Amino acid sequence: MANVVVVGAQWGDEGKGKIVDWLSERADVIARFQGGHNAGHTLVIDGQVYKLNALPSGVVRGGKLSVIGNGVVLDPWHLIKEIASIREQGVDISPETLMIAENTPLIMPFHGELDRAREAQASVAKIGTTGRGIGPCYEDKVGRRVIRVADLADPATLELRVDRALVHHNALRLGLGLEPVDKVALLEKLNEIAPEILQYAAPVWKVLNEKRRAGKRILFEGAQGSLLDIDFGTYPFVTSSNVIAGQAATGVGLGPNAIDFVLGIVKAYTTRVGEGPFPSELHDENGERLGTRGREFGTVTGRKRRCGWFDAALVRQTCAISGINGIALTKLDVLDGFETIRICTGYELDGEVLDYLPTASDQQARCKPIYEEVEGWSQSTEGARSWNDLPGAAVKYVRRIEELIQCPVALLSTSPERDDTILVTDPFED
Ligand code: GDP
Ligand code: IMO
Ligand code: MG
Repeated sequence: MANVVVVGAQWGDEGKGKIVDWLSERADVIARFQGGHNAGHTLVIDGQVYKLNALPSGVVRGGKLSVIGNGVVLDPWHLIKEIASIREQGVDISPETLMIAENTPLIMPFHGELDRAREAQASVAKIGTTGRGIGPCYEDKVGRRVIRVADLADPATLELRVDRALVHHNALRLGLGLEPVDKVALLEKLNEIAPEILQYAAPVWKVLNEKRRAGKRILFEGAQGSLLDIDFGTYPFVTSSNVIAGQAATGVGLGPNAIDFVLGIVKAYTTRVGEGPFPSELHDENGERLGTRGREFGTVTGRKRRCGWFDAALVRQTCAISGINGIALTKLDVLDGFETIRICTGYELDGEVLDYLPTASDQQARCKPIYEEVEGWSQSTEGARSWNDLPGAAVKYVRRIEELIQCPVALLSTSPERDDTILVTDPFED
């Protein structure tokens, strides 16, 4: 029996959605444990594209239980829209297949407004957030003034919660030149959607502990990537949650011993959306080519993703922080046709060689990548479904990555399509 945690090992968009969808065939429950609708997970199944933000990527498979855990921040209005649009694609979503933890914090419209107003302040460095209110909602959770799913069940409690939140937010809004929140209108909006959200509400911690005892397999779906982690990422250019594997347990209400295998999702090169340091970023035709071939545009905001060579030092670091047992290497096909490929193995900082990214922002910004160059391949790897279909140089590239990050490849992905995936080690059986 194994429960598997999937985490992004770079700056997000590594292909978690595709891998979670592929793995979910082997799982009984698929649970999101952090983040919110800042995530954009794309699945391609027989040519049909599904784009998910808040819903776990397991929803598209019938007969599985999808869970939104307490570690998530949930925009109820967005969720309702997402459910409607995914239903239009023929996916069945009901209280039998979707469960939301009762203690999940809710993102309010004023969270998004605050997020965007802060980003618009010219005097402070922009983070380049998705503008979806993720940070402000997590702040309110820790500040003990957030509105949670369970509060929707009782109008009197809901009003108390809203009052508590607004004392804080209206003061902030005044300083930012925003109108105070219309409390009556907000309560009306919340009471209107309450029944729709509450039909999915459940004590997720209890259900998952029971499932676990009954021998069911749980697949934990991470969002974002380890370098966006609030503690271990490139702070302050990060998201506002812990995204690393340790969060999977707290984000749903299971003990850490429920995690049997941590699968890190790793792109065969590096991308980043938003601001912040990125040592192996390319500003040349190679970067353009990675972006074009890899279709590197954000699913949530449509922004162009910054692209660069594979950074082995960073992934070695995130493998350690999340306790990654094996990686799924994605988008290898995007490297087809490069004559030579570079891999960043460490950094030069003030005349010294570092094998990890230091914590201080100014040092991160000054780190110069140290590269080794490997031979590329001219043949296509797109759609390869077996190791034998890969050119020798591609296999060598993968092997070199394994060596540098000190972690084996468990899965290899060669196109956006669900089945263009090579299984090396089954995380559920390992
Ligand atoms: P996530 O946020 O980690 O789920 O990743 P996104 O869905 O935001 O971005 C990954 C993109 O790459 C999506 O458009 C996927 O369809 C696509 N993708 C996933 N795996 C592969 C692959 O092996 N090759 C190619 N070419 N595209 C892939
Ligand atoms: P998935 O799950 C890539 C980035 C934003 C910004 C920073 C903070 O698709 O991999 P936030 O709105 O979270 O406060 O923004 O984090 N970011 C992501 N980048 N993939 C994601 O999710 C991301 N979610 C947030 O671009 O730099
Ligand atoms: Mg994404």
